[in-house]
Amino acid sequence: MSTDSRSTVDGELRVGMVGYAFMGAAHSQAWRTVNRVFDLPTRVRMSLICGRDESKVAAAATRLGWAGHTTDWRDLITRDDIDVVDVCTPGDSHAEIAIAALAAGKHVMCEKPLANTVDEARAMVAAAAKAQAAGVRSMCGFNYRRVPAVTLMRQLVASGRLGVIRHVRAVYLQDWIVDPQFPLVWRLQRDKAGSGALGDIGAHIIDLTQFVTGQRIAGVSALTETFVKERPLVAESSGLAATSGNGSADGRAMGQVTVDDAALFMARLDGGAIATYEASRFATGRKNSLRVEINGSLGSVAFDLERLNELEFHDATVPAAEQGFNRILVTEGDHPYMAAWWPPGHIIGYEHSFTHEMRDFVEALATGTDPTPSFADALQVQLVLAAVERSAEQGTAWTAVEPALAEVAA
Ligand SMILES: NC(=O)c1ccc[n+]([C@@H]2O[C@H](COP(=O)([O-])OP(=O)(O)OC[C@H]3O[C@@H](n4cnc5c(N)ncnc54)[C@H](O)[C@@H]3O)[C@@H](O)[C@H]2O)c1
Repeated sequence: MSTDSRSTVDGELRVGMVGYAFMGAAHSQAWRTVNRVFDLPTRVRMSLICGRDESKVAAAATRLGWAGHTTDWRDLITRDDIDVVDVCTPGDSHAEIAIAALAAGKHVMCEKPLANTVDEARAMVAAAAKAQAAGVRSMCGFNYRRVPAVTLMRQLVASGRLGVIRHVRAVYLQDWIVDPQFPLVWRLQRDKAGSGALGDIGAHIIDLTQFVTGQRIAGVSALTETFVKERPLVAESSGLAATSGNGSADGRAMGQVTVDDAALFMARLDGGAIATYEASRFATGRKNSLRVEINGSLGSVAFDLERLNELEFHDATVPAAEQGFNRILVTEGDHPYMAAWWPPGHIIGYEHSFTHEMRDFVEALATGTDPTPSFADALQVQLVLAAVERSAEQGTAWTAVEPALAEVAA
């Protein structure tokens, strides 16, 4: 494969990143590490980081290892010495930044969920398709695909070891807003986040299970709940005027929570499997609990993010006396991504999923191929999110999910 000349300059891929907080730090860690761990045809240069506050973004550049900083994301897309724009901002700016960057000929890595609405996601897919015709590539950051045990799950399903997939059971549970006094941060505002637990963490298990099974969610029946409907305003992060809500008993200004706190749905996958999903920020005691179990005619797999180096595998084809869930320690050199890390048994963690994400992205750019998940894959997730919300609004009515690829092809 030839190297896309616009993706590299003197063997370097010059990255500009927008956002320097949680995902900004996680992506920086990955950009810093990727060439030191993986043998890639292209070297990454961490050129420019963007945030709106001059002193904070300058400090972040130093702390996270970026050569320069700017307070306007438009700098990233207009500068000749930037090849990649990495979008690590809340969902309300994904579409604007990504579409402008693609139009300017920059490859784009965009955090999940792809957008705040299906319409925005469609516009991003259209921009990506147009850019792709000119060799400009894009990818959405569903990093859990790159946990080696998750990739191994997909390999086991694809190779037929599980037989016909019948059940998918997925939960993603957190508890960080159980306290009603927790403030109204951007993740609790629909105009900034698109949705609540649904789009933030539900999107991950939607993508992960579609990735692992190779099946698309074709229809859903859902309910959502917002347990705490008003929260104290945070002037700095909410951007809301104090008049948008009532005063609390202690005089603090309050604002409306405009997203779901929890979302539950059952689904049919287009390959015949039936599935249940639960995403909540009110699962007391569950900090970041992503668990998936898949049952097939020949066996099952079970994954728990809190034990991310392990995959439980039940092989129903061995004699009954020998059956049971076996714990595979996913640290062998022939497990996905693991040859680049440590000797067998030396485990990895959360941040490695982002290094693997950047590895796959950089390799795709260097070899002139399309990285995955594509914006079209992420639109598919967005269509599920929208169907879940429609179903919940209509009293859990069965709601079909249209295929994104049909739209893209049309
Ligand atoms: N892959 C994952 O596991 C994962 C985890 C958390 C968040 N996310 C996603 O990453 C994105 C960011 O989430 P986060 O947790 O890092 O949020 P965050 O609040 O920690 O950080 C957001 C950053 O964006 C910056 N920002 C906001 N608007 C901006 C603008 N217009 N121009 C420049 N900078 C701007 C903020 O200053 C901040 O640095 C969201 O889409 C979120 O869903 C993904």
